[in-house]
Amino acid sequence: MPASWEKNLRSIQAFYTKALREAKDPKNLETLRVEVLGRKGKLTLLLKDLKNCSLEERKRLGPLANQLKDQLESLIQEKRENLTAADLKAKLETPSLFDPSLPGASFRQGHSHPLTQTMNQMTEILAQQGFSWAEGPLIESDYYNFEALNFLPDHPARDMQDTFYISSKFEVRSSKLKEEDQQPRTSHLEPRTGLLLRTHTSPVQIRKMESSRPPLRIMAPGRVFRHEAVDASHSAVFHQIEGLYVDRQVSMADLKGTLQIFMQSLFGSSTEIRFRPSYFPFTEPSAEVDVQCLFCQGGGCTVCKKSGWLEMLGAGLVHPNVLKQVGYDPETWSGFAFGIGVERVTMLLLGIQDIRMFYENDVRFLEQF
Ligand code: DAH
Repeated sequence: MPASWEKNLRSIQAFYTKALREAKDPKNLETLRVEVLGRKGKLTLLLKDLKNCSLEERKRLGPLANQLKDQLESLIQEKRENLTAADLKAKLETPSLFDPSLPGASFRQGHSHPLTQTMNQMTEILAQQGFSWAEGPLIESDYYNFEALNFLPDHPARDMQDTFYISSKFEVRSSKLKEEDQQPRTSHLEPRTGLLLRTHTSPVQIRKMESSRPPLRIMAPGRVFRHEAVDASHSAVFHQIEGLYVDRQVSMADLKGTLQIFMQSLFGSSTEIRFRPSYFPFTEPSAEVDVQCLFCQGGGCTVCKKSGWLEMLGAGLVHPNVLKQVGYDPETWSGFAFGIGVERVTMLLLGIQDIRMFYENDVRFLEQF
């Protein structure tokens, strides 16, 4: 028995060392491993056979079998690593599978929205003229949006057609519903809270004057809201930039000079401006400012409706009542203010015909600018 056992061991050794060395792929290697070292593998069974031998023989033959087992195991391990490395190398060397010289997938590059671009351009010009940045809340009180700006209680601009009022639902949600709140409303726009969405950036004038002493020179860019039907030239949400300068002896000439530089920096150094008398409750005198038509240089075209001028902004000298309201003495201090729509300027600068395009987020539109 030991002689044949030993012979078997040698033949297993001879066969499998050669076979494992020559294994072609990981699958082939695994088959061979199971054949020799698996639960019913040739060497496993041979080891089990040892129990039929004498103790003496077991002491001599046991280590031989275990040695072979170790030898085969490390051979398999080594061969497996070689096959995996060879496999990867083959894959890398096959040009159809991996071509490192191909360019990577490209990302679409985004950029600022056209309104942001114009807003930046406008605020940069104003900053160069000494205006510093100011902001106010989008949800305003009636006081800042109207009252402090000298709007009389029955002023048509307070009309609910124009203003989005904040309904009392916000107020009563957390407290107990009062009987009167359950009555049907006559209008969903009925003001109950004294809060509204600001209809212009002018309330920032009041907030800024209240919190600082003159002289001051600020610009207040931001979003404003009007309750009106949306069409190619109207949007319920749009943007304005407010300007305010308060100092001693500020005059219409200062306003005109400032706006002339502002408009020329924006539209070109030969741009002419003109003032038309107008009315705003918070300025006296008030003016509507036009720029010479950018498309026909004043000759008259369809854009300017043959007038040669484009209406651009509202402006004026700060009304004494407004100065008094914030505790500035109108005998000592005077100021000018202006408000300009960012959408309108952007449409003129970029030749955009429909204001709604700004808010649709259509990439085909946005990527043109
Ligand atoms: N707040 C006005 C509006 O939205 C625009 C305006 C006019 C602002 C005259 C001013 C100003 O500061 O002086 O229609």
